[in-house]
Amino acid sequence: MTERFLITGGLGCIGAWAAHELLAEGAEVVIADLGTSDHRLRNLVGADPAGLTRDPLDITNPAAVMACFAKHQPTHLVHLAALQVPFCKADPIGGASVNVVGSIALMEAAVEYLGDSTFAYASSVAAYGGEDEPTVDGTAAADPQGKPHTLYGVYKRANEDSAAVYHADRGLSSIGLRPYVVYGLGRDQGVTSSPTSAMLAAARGEAFHIPFGGRAVYQHGRDAARAFIAAARCDHDGATVVNLPGDEVSMDEIITSIRAVLPGAELTLDDVQLPFPPAVDSTDFARVVGDVERYPLDAGVADTIERFQALIAAGAEIVPQR
Ligand SMILES: NC(=O)c1ccc[n+]([C@@H]2O[C@H](COP(=O)([O-])OP(=O)(O)OC[C@H]3O[C@@H](n4cnc5c(N)ncnc54)[C@H](O)[C@@H]3O)[C@@H](O)[C@H]2O)c1
Repeated sequence: MTERFLITGGLGCIGAWAAHELLAEGAEVVIADLGTSDHRLRNLVGADPAGLTRDPLDITNPAAVMACFAKHQPTHLVHLAALQVPFCKADPIGGASVNVVGSIALMEAAVEYLGDSTFAYASSVAAYGGEDEPTVDGTAAADPQGKPHTLYGVYKRANEDSAAVYHADRGLSSIGLRPYVVYGLGRDQGVTSSPTSAMLAAARGEAFHIPFGGRAVYQHGRDAARAFIAAARCDHDGATVVNLPGDEVSMDEIITSIRAVLPGAELTLDDVQLPFPPAVDSTDFARVVGDVERYPLDAGVADTIERFQALIAAGAEIVPQR
């Protein structure tokens, strides 16, 4: 049977990469997203690729979510739709509606329509605390011990806890993945999009100042997408949340990788650590989800710059017209 993946937030960075990967495999993809700009998707898969359906779903509307599942009958789900940190801060009620109520609406629909398939969804490193988060040699444990300090992080924690209750009460199996800093084509919103903006500026020959530094874990959008797809395909019993593996590097190393492609890149940074642990234990990922191939950092950065250069040359829209 042909797989049909429903991807909420599929017009976003990871969602567009998920469509890119799945369409290349011959799977059917339904993008459920109320976003108005499809630039990320277009830049990765073209305007109207075979196998792709778009549904302008607002996940805060539970009846519409249910109707979307009834209409498309997905075999798999990747739930990515969310408002990022700055948007939740500016609009806490809107953030809670999308990130919490929307996720519950998805869990309800998954119970109804997804059968034994695993509910794969995005949590975040923001589920961890900041300075209160205990670390050993800079690495926090596999699960957060501290308290999230953004509403976005609180909402993501709520989803992790809700998923556990949905498994206990309703038998819904789920795998939540916590990405850290996703980079690559399509990463153009949220606090941690600036390393990708630096790659775009460098590709344009422009100077760029990155407003943070320190150490973090970097994941290419393609690899994050592959991880969510693999999680959705897992034969899993439980409600499990794992950290997404990536390259644990400093911002200086990111800049070095950019300059390996563009030696003249004019980049500066504020050497301020993000308010998350520098690294998080992601060893459970392989046990729960399996091995997912990743770009080495230099290759991931080179891919991003090459894609930007091609899009710049073609005069494409690379960042949304706000
Ligand atoms: N990008 C990262 O570094 C990162 C890090 C940690 C966690 N995450 C999580 O991964 C997921 C995907 O991240 P991304 O970078 O692709 O995000 P993104 O901001 O690029 O895309 C999010 C998408 O959700 C859609 N959306 C917002 N409200 C919606 C609604 N009410 N109904 C339907 N769609 C709606 C938006 O239109 C957008 O296309 C998110 O849940 C995010 O919180 C991302």
